Amino acid sequence: MHIVLNHPLVAHRITLMRDKNTKPKLFRELVAEVTSFLAIEALKDLRTEEIEVETPITVTKGRKIKDKIVIVPILRAGMGMVDAMLKVLPSAKVGVLGMQRNEETAEPVPYFAKVPAANGDELALVVDPMLATGGSAVDAVGQLKKLGYRRIKFLNLISAPEGIAKIESEHPEVPVYTAAKDERLNEHFYIVPGLGDAGDRIFGTL
Ligand code: PRP
Ligand code: URA
Repeated sequence: MHIVLNHPLVAHRITLMRDKNTKPKLFRELVAEVTSFLAIEALKDLRTEEIEVETPITVTKGRKIKDKIVIVPILRAGMGMVDAMLKVLPSAKVGVLGMQRNEETAEPVPYFAKVPAANGDELALVVDPMLATGGSAVDAVGQLKKLGYRRIKFLNLISAPEGIAKIESEHPEVPVYTAAKDERLNEHFYIVPGLGDAGDRIFGTL
């Protein structure tokens, strides 16, 4: 299952991100803003429990988040989405997966993993701005499953149809929330029209 955010506030920001003249400072701010919109959509079914709250007027019933959440950025570019996720989920834990695409083959090469132990009931939110061939996302989800995670969602900014199809076939129970579904991959496995290399644009390493 994949959900594409269809909202003018998102489309406006994604267009600014695509612009090759957008500098890293604004680019990072836009990544964070679009991430907040993704989080709102992806967390609609978050588990809550009823609690009592005393307002200045009376006692009433309210709701408190019950789910234990682990945010899992894929390095490097996923780091650009972490602060925005923690703003809406301040009690979440953060696990980190390092992955670098082989530039020739686009195969993901894992180089680091530091993720909290799972008891199977936590909700893991994997974040990475780009879903191109889907290799990195599929590998990340596979690593989380091996660690015992059973509830996993993938949040990203720009997707290629090829990447969405790969996650849907290899991890059909993992929903993908994306801000834009683009046309295709080019011969270098970059997303078209895309926004270029997200990590370089976030970290100013062009
Ligand atoms: C980018 C991006 C994803 C991956 C997507 O990372 O942030 O992790 O490529 O491509 P895929 O769907 O074909 O696997 P990259 O490996 O360039 O590393 P970086 O974040 O350090 O720039
Ligand atoms: N990674 C990126 O950062 N951009 C792409 O278009 C594909 C993979």
